[in-house]
Amino acid sequence: MDEIVGPRRPLRLCASDELAERGKAVVFDVLHFREAARAFALRYDGRVVAYINRCQHVPAEMDWLPGEFLDSGKEYIMCSIHGAVYEPRSGRCAGGPCGRGRLTAIDVEERDGIVYWYASRDTQPAFAD
Ligand code: FES
Repeated sequence: MDEIVGPRRPLRLCASDELAERGKAVVFDVLHFREAARAFALRYDGRVVAYINRCQHVPAEMDWLPGEFLDSGKEYIMCSIHGAVYEPRSGRCAGGPCGRGRLTAIDVEERDGIVYWYASRDTQPAFAD
């Protein structure tokens, strides 16, 4: 139950074709600092990026609808609560009430049509089954 997953073990997240360019994100459950949290992965400029679903203004989930994180122009990740905007490639705050904050990134890798994510000391998989 308290198994720690090492940082180099790939964890299957989804098939590559589930992530359309600037489309809906895949949301997944994690343990972040040992607490249940959610994370999301989306494709932006061809690359898959993933972050903990937690705004840097107030620690709340940001999606407008499940899996919908981008603003109407599909340029930024935008928090649905007070409109903080984040640069999708880096997770850095680009405007609004997130100040100098930055989303917590999760390492991802895409290989042979599959997207994998990697646990870290702070972010572990939630073994729900
Ligand atoms: S909680 Fe995200 S902008 Fe305020």
